[in-house]
Amino acid sequence: MERYILGISGASGQAIGLKLLRELLERDFDVHLVISRHSLPVIAKETGVQLGPDKAHDEKTLRGGSGKGRLFQYWEEEMEAPIASGSFKAKAMFITPCSMKTLSAVAAGYASNLLERAADVTIKEGRKLVLCPREMPFSAIHLENMLKLARIGVTIAPPVAAFYHRPKNLEEMVDFFAGKLLDSAGIENETFKRWGNRDG
Ligand SMILES: Cc1cc2nc3c(=O)[nH]c(=O)nc-3n(C[C@H](O)[C@H](O)[C@H](O)COP(=O)(O)O)c2cc1C
Repeated sequence: MERYILGISGASGQAIGLKLLRELLERDFDVHLVISRHSLPVIAKETGVQLGPDKAHDEKTLRGGSGKGRLFQYWEEEMEAPIASGSFKAKAMFITPCSMKTLSAVAAGYASNLLERAADVTIKEGRKLVLCPREMPFSAIHLENMLKLARIGVTIAPPVAAFYHRPKNLEEMVDFFAGKLLDSAGIENETFKRWGNRDG
């Protein structure tokens, strides 16, 4: 059973996090999901999805009917969760979307909540970490944090749109971002039209 960690923080772009979650569950992977407190109003505003406090209710909403993968959901205060320890193995961790606050915590090794701790552990154990940082424009502080992490092998994959596949709507753009994030972790997918496909 392949196991992934997905962190969702309070940046814009929540639809990408939800799409990525459903793609992982559809592949029947175990997904350990940690949602920051600050992301809750952003998720509600951007996607209409209302989460908390009932995790069983959340699972139905988050899953949206997708897949047989098992979903384990945590709040950022749950520091005793398995993903807080390096002895708990996962193939990769995504933070999608990644706020500039969470980015700075990860870059500084400042593990003040479960999401940041899981990222810190992923780095220290030499496992794959993929960040989807979202802000516009980026300041020099944001860029320095990204560069610091890129230099130690963290994948920095912000939601920068491509136009060659002529996206017709937001959903197609989200599919593209989710597909590129899956690519970054080496997960096969047909989520978006690839350049060079004859039927493309
Ligand atoms: C509607 C909304 C959109 C936001 N978008 C962003 C964003 O795109 N990037 C960002 O870094 N912060 C954004 N923020 C601010 C973060 O939510 C805030 O910095 C928060 O402290 C992040 O905490 P977290 O990383 O623990 O989730 C947004 C906040 C709101 C309410």
